[in-house]
Amino acid sequence: MIHKKSIGIFDSGYGGLTVFKAIANKLPDYNYIYLGDNARAPYGDHSYETVYQYTLECVEWLFEQGCPLVILACNTASAKALRTIQQKVLPVKYPHHRVLGVIRPTAEVIGNYTASGKIGVMGTRGTINSESYPIEIHKFFPELDVVQQSCPMWVPLIENNEHLQEGADYFVQEYMDQLLEKSPDIDAILLACTHYPLLIPKISKLLPEGFKLIAQGDIVADSLSLYLVNHPEIEELLNKDGEKQFFTSGDHLVFDKNASIFFDKEVMSQQINLKI
Ligand code: DGL
Repeated sequence: MIHKKSIGIFDSGYGGLTVFKAIANKLPDYNYIYLGDNARAPYGDHSYETVYQYTLECVEWLFEQGCPLVILACNTASAKALRTIQQKVLPVKYPHHRVLGVIRPTAEVIGNYTASGKIGVMGTRGTINSESYPIEIHKFFPELDVVQQSCPMWVPLIENNEHLQEGADYFVQEYMDQLLEKSPDIDAILLACTHYPLLIPKISKLLPEGFKLIAQGDIVADSLSLYLVNHPEIEELLNKDGEKQFFTSGDHLVFDKNASIFFDKEVMSQQINLKI
């Protein structure tokens, strides 16, 4: 069977759908396959080795479905697995495939959002402890002060659809306070986890006027659009029927119910089995 060539989009669970939504708006003609590894999410506290193994397995599955290009729409996977996949796996096993992450495109533009030169980065423990953001941001904006805050309770709240309940206020306030205590001069915050845009209604209530809250969807969509222009050898492989397919390693009925909240549209997924 000849597979149509699609762009693969991967996340540990639902968060990548906030990025996929922006990509599908910007580039509606391409075919896409989304894979959420819901059975093994969240990835935030897993070791490097585990995140790498899980991510590689999902990327290889997307390659098998006919995706020559895969976007890791997950900061944790981008921080802990992308480099090894790009440097050790692709050249040896898949020289014609490409895998891109969300950290570098964000780092390339993030300095443009702050006037004070101090930016907050909020993410999972895995992303924050990897130091990937300060390292990548300083390549493009060496003077920028990057103040990090891990928010380990936010993904579980969101994955369990509790993020808009009153009970979530405590954890939103707690991590915001911790961040702003470290540096009161921050004037922009990057939501460096693709789940966090769902908390924007609660986070924005706590921010002083003029503060910038940055989600990654549009940044990644712009960067992908430019990548396709600059890489005709990949772009020419891709079919353009505007088809979107969704797969999950978890329960597909649960996925469909929750995914529509992240994607803002009805989603019908299929369940796949990955090694657990
Ligand atoms: N949405 C993910 C991220 O951007 C991951 C969350 C998780 O699985 O912990 O980091």
